[in-house]
Amino acid sequence: MSALETFDIAAWTGPFADAERDAAIRALEGGQVLYLPHLPFVLSEKEKRLLTPDLFSGRAKNISLDPSGKLKHAAGADGDRALLQGMMQRFASGAVSLIEGLFPGYAPKLERARTSYRPVEIAGRKYSPVHDDTRLHVDAFPTRPMRGRRILRLFSNIHPGATPRVWNVGEPFAQMAEKILPRVKEPPPIAAWLRAATFQTRGVRSRYDDMMMGLHDQAKLNVDYQQATPKTEIAFPPGTTWLCYTDQVMHAALSGQYVLEQTFHLDVEAMAEPARAPLKVLERMTGRALV
Ligand SMILES: [Fe+2]
Repeated sequence: MSALETFDIAAWTGPFADAERDAAIRALEGGQVLYLPHLPFVLSEKEKRLLTPDLFSGRAKNISLDPSGKLKHAAGADGDRALLQGMMQRFASGAVSLIEGLFPGYAPKLERARTSYRPVEIAGRKYSPVHDDTRLHVDAFPTRPMRGRRILRLFSNIHPGATPRVWNVGEPFAQMAEKILPRVKEPPPIAAWLRAATFQTRGVRSRYDDMMMGLHDQAKLNVDYQQATPKTEIAFPPGTTWLCYTDQVMHAALSGQYVLEQTFHLDVEAMAEPARAPLKVLERMTGRALV
């Protein structure tokens, strides 16, 4: 299986052909990255002044827009912030339209989560090993329990020059889990309740959340694994779009600047093949219910 499946899609809104939709859902749920080289997110003349790292407050990894419309971690004058909000909102609408058109079975259950804008060059940014996204990982979050729900992310490179977004993509989820899971220690059951009771997490973390967080951390911390694991380097040029299940695809972002990203959450039951979800894979491997 190749890491990437290319689609000749050139519009954010369907209808898309049956054969295209079938191929897209097979690739997505099978753990590939869907690459749309002919689908740019085009900025207006006015929006081009948003292509500067100065808009970033520096207080988080990225600028983000909540589904409620609230902009976070953006600096700059009110006019620029309003322009930025409008651009991110328009990108979010395009992303929703594309995902609903390409995966109509998802539409009723699809939850639009955060939109992010990443205006800072990522090569050379210094993070601790578990926060270092240049190391291969699956996405998992300490404060956002997913309880098995999927994390689907769509990205567009809006760099005004020729700089690609460069990723590494690693081995399939099950193969990674077989190697990394033995290193994941389980926290005592009371810990999840305590964290929820003291508002450190939004809702109670499940065993699944702890296991995914463990896989995320242990894969990043394991230097031998990072070096030895097979990986494919992919360069996404400006003017292209790509998407994948980032809770399933082992990925690392190596370099690049000016990327827009939209996150979606989806119930496992809304998938065409729920058995492919990390939750189901981990439940088969461990022989027990994880949520
Ligand atoms: Fe990630």
